[in-house]
Amino acid sequence: MSKRKAKTASPHPTTSQMWGGRFSQGPAHIMAEINASIDVDRQLYAQDIAASKAHARMLASQGIISAQDGKAIETGLNTIFSEIENGSFEFKRALEDIHMNIEARLTELIGDAAGRLHTARSRNDQVATDFKLWVRDAIERADVGLKNLQRALLAQADRHAATVMPGFTHLQSAQPVTFGHHCLAYVEMLDRDRGRFGDARSRLNESPLGAGALAGTSFPIDRHATAAALGFDRPSANSLDAVSDRDFALETLNAAALTAIHLSRLAEELIIWSSGPFGFITLSDAFTTGSSMMPQKRNPDAAELVRAKTGRIFAAQISLQTVMKGLPLAYSKDMQEDKEAVFDAVKSLELSIAAMAGMIGDMTINKDAMEKAAGDGFSTATDLADWLVRVLNKPFRDAHNITGRIVAAAEAKNCHLEDLSLSDMQKFEPGITDDVYSVLSLSNSVHSRTSFGGTAPENVKLEIARWKERLS
Ligand code: ARG
Repeated sequence: MSKRKAKTASPHPTTSQMWGGRFSQGPAHIMAEINASIDVDRQLYAQDIAASKAHARMLASQGIISAQDGKAIETGLNTIFSEIENGSFEFKRALEDIHMNIEARLTELIGDAAGRLHTARSRNDQVATDFKLWVRDAIERADVGLKNLQRALLAQADRHAATVMPGFTHLQSAQPVTFGHHCLAYVEMLDRDRGRFGDARSRLNESPLGAGALAGTSFPIDRHATAAALGFDRPSANSLDAVSDRDFALETLNAAALTAIHLSRLAEELIIWSSGPFGFITLSDAFTTGSSMMPQKRNPDAAELVRAKTGRIFAAQISLQTVMKGLPLAYSKDMQEDKEAVFDAVKSLELSIAAMAGMIGDMTINKDAMEKAAGDGFSTATDLADWLVRVLNKPFRDAHNITGRIVAAAEAKNCHLEDLSLSDMQKFEPGITDDVYSVLSLSNSVHSRTSFGGTAPENVKLEIARWKERLS
């Protein structure tokens, strides 16, 4: 069988017909398999069509293709968009990727004019443009989701500005705090996450389109026009950089990874708080599951999955960093492996953010359990030490030592600090007066923490007002 015949025998169109002018044989089956990215990059169809329309319009207005061909291309691309949206488009693995699938269909629809669309363009600048547009949309969705989650936390903070809970260090009771203050800690964290996504978006927003394969083009294109049409701030200044840059994807994954860390920490808290021994919160039916064996169970599955999905997001970051780290300029096919990790990470992140917003919005706070736990563990010991400093003018180190011995006495009696009698305490420091009891109560403890950024309910209320304004 002649080589020629092997090439033409295929019943399906293949990309090698599109780029294979110099080849005498079609690709090996396994080559086609490793080369094909359509199963993944079909997600870029909307961006690919938008970028092609901008390119075609520019080619026509620059007189590089005729107005008539420009119109035909645009109409054809609109048809393809509808076909993909309504599910009638047939994606072909033999056509390798989304760009070739769309171009092949365009040829079926409009004939020769389709072949003019790729003038002054390469798949290298095309894919970089499409992917940037996709990532930009993902960043915008993440921002909306995070803002929504901040609002859910803010609403809980508003209801519980003065609800007392144990504040922990080392997961040991440390000092009482307000639940509102705890919620607002996450509002702060998520705001930094939004800032990182915003930074990534602003650096991302330069158009690679028109960089060509790597060197630019000899056609009189207008890169400023295509950049503006696609909502970019400007065209990227260096064609080599334009086609080989994936920083925008990496920065987005970095932001996603840090967000995932925050969500995972919050998930961990929800899991602990909703456990029987804590009982601080009850997650709603909508975000928990039962056990097939133990009828009493209400499992925090959504929180556990948020905690676990962090792994996929970290993995995506490592995966793309590893793909990129050894690549010389400009494009290498390695870079085709950039999308799957990003798509998966973005999907995991979006689900996690939405699930977290649902759990936070729906959960019930068990105030009594929180306050009872806040009273355990001698959590106002620091208040006692501070009283010794403030009222008796003790050096803090001495006050710390005296308080430690009073705590040991309470522990021996198995009672709270405020249950010790005055004479019990005076055994360790004769100067202590009745006035000390005022600082041993939970409520006084939290109300006294009025330093900037402290947990006092009045501080929390001011912060809530500030956030309401910012998130409105
Ligand atoms: N499917 C390819 C990708 O995602 C498109 C770019 C192909 N460019 C090339 N020179 N083979 O990277």
